[in-house]
Amino acid sequence: MADPDDPTLPQRWPAPSTPRPIVVIGSGAIVEQAHLPAYRRLGLSVAAFYDIDPTRSAAMAARSPGAQPLTAIADAARWPDAVFDVAVPGSAVAGVLTELPERSCVLIQKPLGESLAEAQRIASVCHSRQLRAAQNFQLRFSPNLIAMKALLDRGFFGELVDIEVRVVTYTPWELWSFMRGIPRLEILYHSIHYLDVLRHLLGEPRSVFCHTTRSQRPEYADVASTTLLDYGPTSRVVVGTFHAHAPLPDHAMSELRIEGTRGTAVTRMGVNLAYPTGKPDTLEIWERGAARFTAVPLRGSWFTEAFEGPMSNLQRFAAGEDTALVSPVDDAVKIVRDEFPKTSPQILRDAGCDRQGRRKVGTGDRLEDDKRRAFTGHTPRPSSGRERNRKVAPGHEDNTSLSSGSQPNACAAMLPSSCGFRR
Ligand SMILES: NC(=O)c1ccc[n+]([C@@H]2O[C@H](COP(=O)([O-])OP(=O)(O)OC[C@H]3O[C@@H](n4cnc5c(N)ncnc54)[C@H](O)[C@@H]3O)[C@@H](O)[C@H]2O)c1
Repeated sequence: MADPDDPTLPQRWPAPSTPRPIVVIGSGAIVEQAHLPAYRRLGLSVAAFYDIDPTRSAAMAARSPGAQPLTAIADAARWPDAVFDVAVPGSAVAGVLTELPERSCVLIQKPLGESLAEAQRIASVCHSRQLRAAQNFQLRFSPNLIAMKALLDRGFFGELVDIEVRVVTYTPWELWSFMRGIPRLEILYHSIHYLDVLRHLLGEPRSVFCHTTRSQRPEYADVASTTLLDYGPTSRVVVGTFHAHAPLPDHAMSELRIEGTRGTAVTRMGVNLAYPTGKPDTLEIWERGAARFTAVPLRGSWFTEAFEGPMSNLQRFAAGEDTALVSPVDDAVKIVRDEFPKTSPQILRDAGCDRQGRRKVGTGDRLEDDKRRAFTGHTPRPSSGRERNRKVAPGHEDNTSLSSGSQPNACAAMLPSSCGFRR
């Protein structure tokens, strides 16, 4: 296991053999810092950049030999044989998708919208335009996570007993202006990666309970979350994050640990320790009987090697080299269509949202209330058990009551404050 290219412990997704040109829509930080370095390493060509801010697409094209800046999305949509790489805020995704040609291949940055209504709209656009669309849940493709999945598949851990994601760090929300004032932040824009990875590794949980903590900075919604995922009576699965830790490295933490009856693996997700450059990822494994953990050399980290995987998979899927998308939007489409969770009126009120889950931005009293609550430690009143356990038939959702859902990323991501569901 000393070689990061050891085929018995894979760390990379196979590259496409006949890649199509990439047209990037949304030319912001994540494209520059993570998408482009990954594509360059794979030898993929970016043909064009479009952004509603033409200075951004021009700057990006100037730094990418052979790429053109586009000033109209219609020009992007007309690009022959393109694979589209959409990296815009969640609230802009649906609008962009409606402009793309039918049956396009599209990679969409998370999240799938910022509200239930937006997620439903994205789902409906993907269906009606028959888009071959994948969500850019690239943590699944990170070298450490590909290796951990291989260990899991070969039974390295034995029976799983304890799985924990623990992130305690300072995350500079101010890097993303679009996060100011939105009603739900932490899970939609951060922990969704861990919930996605846990589903990828473990399948669907039987139930989920989640609580998010309001930020002391009134311009941002939440700053921490704890999500308990029920995978049965003999295993504990939890995601805990806190993003307002002291901006010092000493006790910061960014770790995913899988512990089983026969073996344990602990991996560091270094990017969180000083976003976006961070520290390198690490992976250590231990087998019952061994005197110590062994370090597994990694060929790269979440930022940026993981970003190779989603585009490789989409390109290979487009060419018939991969039979399925690893992270298809259909997964989310199914959640939205059948069992999307609802939020109780009380929770919406506590979160300063209207009945559609939109935050009442600019309501100073509301934001001040949030701030006071954060300082006094008073948390919003949780919903009653009756509301929590109520199932609503598909098609009868009214967006005003808390109900059950089947997928943690949808449930937890769309709900502010406390929520839970049981299948
Ligand atoms: N690990 C990850 O997967 C990861 C990390 C960071 C950001 N992201 C996601 O990527 C997306 C972009 O984040 P970012 O960090 O690049 O933010 P950013 O603010 O730096 O860039 C967003 C860009 O999108 C452009 N834009 C907005 N609406 C548009 C539209 N309708 N059409 C075209 N362009 C539009 C903006 O002008 C801006 O240039 C977000 O949804 C975020 O969640 C993912």
